[in-house]
Amino acid sequence: MASIQVYETSNEEDHKTIEAIGSELGQLLNGQALDRNRVAYALNMLKASMLLHFSHEEAIMKQHNYPNLFHHKRSHDYIMSILSEFISAFAVGRESTTADLWPHLKKTLDTHLLRYDADFAAYLSQLP
Ligand SMILES: [Fe+2]
Ligand SMILES: [Fe+2]
Repeated sequence: MASIQVYETSNEEDHKTIEAIGSELGQLLNGQALDRNRVAYALNMLKASMLLHFSHEEAIMKQHNYPNLFHHKRSHDYIMSILSEFISAFAVGRESTTADLWPHLKKTLDTHLLRYDADFAAYLSQLP
């Protein structure tokens, strides 16, 4: 049971970290003068923290033979593809596309949390 508790703790911390970086990114994008360096840094931090979190979650799923791993991973990959699209748009100066990044990503992440992460947590909790 120890591994499940470790998962729950770090999972919640990961989610909070991602949320905090995303909120900062949202504020930066809504600010008066756009600080491109800070936005680029926040985008990289968001990408790194999401990749770390997703791979961590998927490793625990494999470890516990979670039957919905395939669909869960597909949702992670979809979220990463949205982020990559926004990073590309920002890199070529399409700020208008980047502006609604965080609200859109947050909505997708919230749905993921409610449907996929909650299902995985329920699966872990009923393991002997
Ligand atoms: Fe997940
Ligand atoms: Fe998660």
